[in-house]
Amino acid sequence: MSPPPPEHRDAVTLFVNAAQTVTCAGPGRARRGAEMQEAGVRSGVGVAVRGDRIVLVADDAELRGQFPDAVEVDCDRGVLAPGFVDSHTHTVFGRARYEEHELRATGVPYLEIAQRGGGIHASVRDLRARSDDELLSLAVPRLQALAAGGVTTVEIKSGYGLTVHDELRTLQVIARLAAAGPLNLVATCLGAHEVPLEFRERQGGRDAWIDCLVHELYPAVAAGELARFADVFCEPGVFTVPETRRLLEAAREHGMQLKLHADELHDGGAAVLAAELGATSADHLAAISPEGIAALAASPTVATLLPATMLFLGTGRQAPARAMIEAGAAIAVATDLNPGTSPLQSFPLVLTLAVSQLRLSASEAWIAGTVNGAAALGLAGITGQLREGFRADIAVHAADDFRALPYWFGERLCRVSWAGGRACHPFA
Ligand code: NIG
Ligand code: FE
Repeated sequence: MSPPPPEHRDAVTLFVNAAQTVTCAGPGRARRGAEMQEAGVRSGVGVAVRGDRIVLVADDAELRGQFPDAVEVDCDRGVLAPGFVDSHTHTVFGRARYEEHELRATGVPYLEIAQRGGGIHASVRDLRARSDDELLSLAVPRLQALAAGGVTTVEIKSGYGLTVHDELRTLQVIARLAAAGPLNLVATCLGAHEVPLEFRERQGGRDAWIDCLVHELYPAVAAGELARFADVFCEPGVFTVPETRRLLEAAREHGMQLKLHADELHDGGAAVLAAELGATSADHLAAISPEGIAALAASPTVATLLPATMLFLGTGRQAPARAMIEAGAAIAVATDLNPGTSPLQSFPLVLTLAVSQLRLSASEAWIAGTVNGAAALGLAGITGQLREGFRADIAVHAADDFRALPYWFGERLCRVSWAGGRACHPFA
């Protein structure tokens, strides 16, 4: 979609007639511990948008008084809120992996499927065989589905290419999706998603792949300005803590900020490493140790929890979110949209799982999906709040109470979402 014509850039749009407005307003940083209880729920309050910014958050009467010529979006007594920030996805991939879902149901564990050459490797074979245009057109409806649930910012990782060429291709597809808009996209280089089979099968191959990431992929990603973050799947059986440290230190030298897939299935000390490296986020954490919790609570690193993944894997476990909040950590939640462990395109369902599985309150779940999701992308001063000067990332939901979103699980309540002042649902 092309940007709005210049003559419309000064036009003001008012979002009015909401039953409740969840502002999430407060400091432009992650909320931790008890701060997560404050979602800033108000009534009679609307929002004025000019260009890509929120210019005023005030009572409807005041908005109309200040901007008498504005166009109005009628919230129809719904819930007006910041757009959700889906801070952990693998949206660019080829086919679904139905066979694995059933295999796990028979008792074969996730990491064993990968050991047998399935799992991530199956998606790698598939992605390598597809053209850029095909990958792009497969990703578009996934982003539209996220937007239809009220998401306005999405992080997307590479990680199914696992050659320098295919990783760069994936990141270029993400750049094309970002340029096309209207969603705000953030790219992450996950070249360290696995050791590719062709390297795994030869002697010294593991170190050769790590060398390739450090000396070839990261410099090329930096030269093309293709990713804001680098991520590593740090897990016993995938990348070790010393390997992850080497990879992330190299990525940082190339100007990337850091993320980790950390302590997802087994505690390997990855959360402690994330805190030590000053990573922007440590993600998954279902097997985090008490030391890991203490380290994250004492660091600025956001703990991003992915409850749909644990549900879909059928592990019967979830990250100890309450202990983490009580220790003072900042919790975000995200879909982890990917073909292996979380084929989920509904962000509101993550809010349901945040309450029912992670035992967050509705306010905590909203903060985890907005302000703290933004913080997990280094964007806490830009999006995730209805606040003057913030980007106009807005959603309207057909409900009279913000608690309806986690409550009516699987329901499609979002009526309108706008990213950077442009409609992303319904798609204009
Ligand atoms: O976040 N854990 C590693 N990566 C993904 C799954 C990737 C896959 O199985 O395709 C995750 O769950
Ligand atoms: Fe992931």
